[in-house]
Order: sequence, then structure tokens, then C-alpha cells
Amino acid sequence: MNFKENISLKSYNTFGIDVNAKRFISIDSVYQLQQLLKIEKDIFLISGGSNMLLTKDIEKLVVHIDIKGISIDRENHNDIYLTVNAGENWHDFVLWCVSENYGGVENLSLIPGNVGTCPIQNIGAYGVEVKDTISKVEALEIETGKLVQFSNKECNFGYRNSIFKNEVKGKYIIISVSFKLTKNNHNLNSSYGAIETELASKNITKPTLKDISEAVITIRESKLPDPKKIGNSGSFFKNPVIAKSQFLELQKEYPNVPSYIVSDTEIKVPAGWLIEQAGFKGKRYGEFGVHEKQALVLVNYGNASGAEIYQLAEKIKESIFNKFGISLEIEVNIIA
Ligand code: EPU
Repeated sequence: MNFKENISLKSYNTFGIDVNAKRFISIDSVYQLQQLLKIEKDIFLISGGSNMLLTKDIEKLVVHIDIKGISIDRENHNDIYLTVNAGENWHDFVLWCVSENYGGVENLSLIPGNVGTCPIQNIGAYGVEVKDTISKVEALEIETGKLVQFSNKECNFGYRNSIFKNEVKGKYIIISVSFKLTKNNHNLNSSYGAIETELASKNITKPTLKDISEAVITIRESKLPDPKKIGNSGSFFKNPVIAKSQFLELQKEYPNVPSYIVSDTEIKVPAGWLIEQAGFKGKRYGEFGVHEKQALVLVNYGNASGAEIYQLAEKIKESIFNKFGISLEIEVNIIA
């Protein structure tokens, strides 16, 4: 096994935070991972590094999951069942599905990160969540090295949430994700406002998977920073769900507040809107700040530390609470 010492994790996290890994190993097979777990269980996992904020050097062994490969399990006239190994890049997988005409993940184009971490936060965008396509998740139990399968139901998916962020957090290493995608009669999801507008601007009335994927890419590129150019982790906070009574009060003061109905008694309010109202949008503090086109995204212009970005997040949370009485919840994993 090829252990490395004292390497920078800057290129392993999309925030581009420069922290040191005392010891590091890249793993490209399940067998290798099982062998490693026999000698070391107190590990720090990193995959696409797209949903974490590193605030300090990592003393534990950093294990980079780089297991690649896609296999077709079975198919019929309408559906195809695929198993994708954890280290595959998410967006490359989406583009491959679109080129093969496999439907279900096209709305999730251009989301950073790897396939193995997509179930953890149940990635979602433009009216689709990855839970809609996942049939099962396979993971290694760190304690025993045993392979365990989680059915879609067992994953307990919710909005940016799953069992992997709760009950079994830190206990398993996801090694592959299985998907059920469509080959025919795709269930296209093009009704999200921005997608409709984008398709209409191109006079597309009967969109294909590729049209939707391209529309999503255009929309994302127009408001979300490319992590290869400006470090970021996508939405830093979750969109808060508040009581309808609180929402009605808010609406009195801000008649244009955007909202999504969650239930008869609960309303989701975009955190990006709240942060913009509080005056943070586009604010730059030296090496870090709040993205100019989407206030929900905190950015590293180059040499920020994770601690600085975390302090900014806390300042934003406090300001939103003081102004609106709403508690924002951080969506990104803070490694402290
Ligand atoms: N808005 C503002 N100011 C801002 C940002 C947004 O007023 O700076 C308003 C917009 O005008 C719009 C509303 O807030 O009325 C919603 O904005 P948007 O459509 O950009 O979506 P979002 O709620 O901010 C969520 C996801 C994104 C996902 C988009 C599209 C969360 C935490 N974020 O953002 O996911 O791409 O919807 O579906 O749910 C991610 O998780 O990393 C991510 C990027």
C-alpha cells in the first residue's frame, strides 16, 4: 500500500483549503480498502471533497476513495439498473447517462463531487433529488470490514439528508451506488422555472435528456462559481423551513419573499434570499466572501483558511437570526 506523508489537501477539496494530511492513501479497490481496515480504522475519508470545509490539519490517516467503474446489472425495455463505484465523478456519470439516453439524473448536471457521496446529502437541484433514482447503496462497515447493502428505503432520504448523516454517520464507507434509470418514456422534469425559461429561449418544446442537461449547465454556470476557478462547496446552508404563521409575518414586511410550500403548516424560504436581504451578497473580505450571483454560496478566492470561512458563516447565521428570527442550518460538513 502506497502511504504518503505530509501532503496538502488543497486539490482534494472543492473549497481549495490548504491543510496538511499527516498521512494519506488513495484506495482504488474494495479489496484494498478491506485490507487497510484490518490495520487502521481511525481514518478520515475524502472522496470528491465537494461538501466539506476543512478548518485544520488532519492528524488521522486520510483515505481517498478512488474506486472507479460502472457496470450494468440488468435491463428491460424501459429501465436499466446500473452500479457505479464510489470514485466516479458525478458530472461525468451524468454526461455518460445523457449520451447513452438513460434518464433520471439529467437535472443533476454539473454538481461537483463523486458518486459515492451523492446519497449522503441526497444531492438535489431543479426539481430532482438523487433519491428518486437510487435503488441501493453498498457500503463497508468500518468496524467489521463487512459489505452491507442499504435499500433506498433504508437510506432514509430527506431534503439534503440521509441515514449516512445521522444514525450510521462515520460507521460506513460507501463503495458503490446502484441506480434505476429509464431507457424509454423518460419522466422529464422541465417544469422548474429557470429550466422552462432556458428551454423557451432556445425554442425547445419537446426537450431531450441532452436539452435538459444543457439547460441546467447553462443555468448553473450563470450563477454558481466553478470550483476549479473559485473555491466553494455549493450551497453552504440549507433552505430553512419555517412555520406558516412566521412566514405570513415575514411576507407582510417583504411581500416579494420567495417561498415553497412544504406542508399545510410549513414553508421553505430560500436562504440565499435571506442572506441577500441581510446585505451579504457579493461581500468580499480579502481572500473569502459571499458569491456575487448566489448569496447561498461562500467562496474562497485563493488563500482563505477554513476557519475564516466558518467565522463568516457564523456571522451570517447571527445576522439572519437577528433580522428575521430564522435559524440557518449549515449544510456543508465542517471538519474541526
Ligand atoms: N435568491 C435571492 N438571492 C440570492 C439567491 C437566491 O434572492 O442570492 C432567490 C432567487 O431569486 C429565487 C430563490 O432565492 O427566488 C431560489 O434561488 P435558486 O433557484 O437559485 O435556488 P436555491 O434555493 O438558492 C437550491 C439548492 C441548490 C440548487 C437550486 C436549484 C439548497 C440548499 N440549494 O438553491 O443546490 O442548485 O436550489 O434547484 O437547497 C447545493 O446544494 O449545493 C445547490 C447548489
